[in-house]
Amino acid sequence: MNLYDLFMKRRSVRNFKDQEIPQDVIEELLDAANNAPSGGNIQPVSVILVQESEARKELATMVGEQPWVRNAPLSMIFCVDFLRIKRWASMFETDFKGEKAFLHFLIAYADLTCAAQNVVILSQSHGLGSVYIGTILDVIDRARKYFAMPEYVLPMMVLSIGYPKTVPKKVPKLKREVIAHREKYRELSDDQIKRAFEEKYGSFEDNLENYLHRTYVEAVEAEKQQKPRWADMKSIKKEMKKLNIRSNAQFLFKLRYPSDEMIKLNEIVVRSFKNAGFDFF
Ligand SMILES: Cc1cc2nc3c(=O)[nH]c(=O)nc-3n(C[C@H](O)[C@H](O)[C@H](O)COP(=O)(O)O)c2cc1C
Repeated sequence: MNLYDLFMKRRSVRNFKDQEIPQDVIEELLDAANNAPSGGNIQPVSVILVQESEARKELATMVGEQPWVRNAPLSMIFCVDFLRIKRWASMFETDFKGEKAFLHFLIAYADLTCAAQNVVILSQSHGLGSVYIGTILDVIDRARKYFAMPEYVLPMMVLSIGYPKTVPKKVPKLKREVIAHREKYRELSDDQIKRAFEEKYGSFEDNLENYLHRTYVEAVEAEKQQKPRWADMKSIKKEMKKLNIRSNAQFLFKLRYPSDEMIKLNEIVVRSFKNAGFDFF
């Protein structure tokens, strides 16, 4: 398969076979992560491999009962790791203070996503599927404790990997022309924005069953695999009625990522950063 097709066919996979990934493939995946671009080539990234069933179960629970995390034979926890660099610098009578320099953190986080995405694409070329799990950010303290991470190590992203049992059908995306700006930024009119998202999601449907199947892939998949609380279709529909959700945007920002709740999470994230020794402001 050529690379363009590989990118276009990639989908987040949430339904895995009970099949081990060969060790040599795992090592290749680690090489791909390690060989990713890195600002200044400082490489402030560590990867924790989670394969044992107890740990898989615990990780799946802590990231918000996501059954595919338990079912995937391998999850990689990508961490910003300033400890190694700080210790190395101090051995040579110099200081590395990335935990206080927001710019160092931003670059390290970019490094981390480059490394993780290398793994996504190489996995796909091996016939594996993967899904990012961002909700690790809600439980940084708990993850650090369970996986024995010391100060200056921050878990920022999980990637769960395995052989796909099923791959989701096409997932809606904006059209290429919506995200591309030629030479200068071009602000869209209200009508253009409305159309862009309508073309992406389709118009909001009264048939909630259809709607949820099209847009809430995770919940549908989770309900099939484990029926965690958050994926109970009946309560999602009830909540949608209660909040009078009548559009795709309301669905996203009133129910899935309620704007005020997201702001409230600032406090938790900042506290976990501080607990790990990171303090930028
Ligand atoms: C930063 C980030 C965090 C994500 N977190 C989760 C998650 O916690 N659980 C999940 O099932 N999918 C998660 N995803 C996957 C997205 O839901 C998925 O990429 C999106 O729906 C688009 O589908 P596609 O990857 O098939 O194009 C995450 C993706 C990214 C990039």
